[in-house]
Amino acid sequence: MEPAHYFTERPSTPSAPRTVRLRLPDVQLDLVADSGVFSGRQLDPGTRLLLRHAPVPRVDGDLLDLGCGYGPIALTLATRNPDVTVWAVDVNERALELVTRNAAAAGLGNVMARKPEQVPDAVRFAAIYSNPPIRIGKPALHELLLRWLSRLVPDGAAWLVVQRNLGSDSLARWLTERGYPTRRIHAERGYRLLEIDAAPAGTDPWPS
Ligand SMILES: C[S@@+](CC[C@H](N)C(=O)[O-])C[C@H]1O[C@@H](n2cnc3c(N)ncnc32)[C@H](O)[C@@H]1O
Repeated sequence: MEPAHYFTERPSTPSAPRTVRLRLPDVQLDLVADSGVFSGRQLDPGTRLLLRHAPVPRVDGDLLDLGCGYGPIALTLATRNPDVTVWAVDVNERALELVTRNAAAAGLGNVMARKPEQVPDAVRFAAIYSNPPIRIGKPALHELLLRWLSRLVPDGAAWLVVQRNLGSDSLARWLTERGYPTRRIHAERGYRLLEIDAAPAGTDPWPS
């Protein structure tokens, strides 16, 4: 179980680094995780489902792991797409340090671990992959998703893994209503994998 405040900027829990073994059919990595970051003892089952079932990007361009934690999604994407820049974004500084360390240990030079405000405004994403921070609450989650989905390129897509009992179905409906066509593409053991299209050209679901 993750600590209650894994999404604080500077976790107060004493550091206790440990190795998480990420074993997928095509990617094997030993990652350093820690207390004070999400699922710091083992790969989260929802994250595993996302990494096994989310499709490859539809178009070329940068990728985003929104809410990267210690980096299992970002590092898997970077391993699978060595010529592509992968942005690993989180508010938790301990998590970002782990991503940087894990990327260096894996010899991955294409991972950019950054706080949200450190990603240049001009950067756009071909695809977003996320096990999103549901526990920040619905209003904050909605704002977070709209903010980053608006940065998808035309024909880009996002894949989110969300637990059914944490509101996957209502989130899918809400995103569709807000102009982002959303479908459930996989369901397993209480988790749902949502596929979200970039908003059609000419619509502006995130007016500034
Ligand atoms: C459910 S965890 C997933 C972590 C990691 N991707 C994994 O699969 O193990 C969600 C992450 O979102 C981060 N987060 C919370 N609020 C955020 C925000 N406003 N912007 C970016 N990341 C945020 C949390 O710190 C946490 O690491």
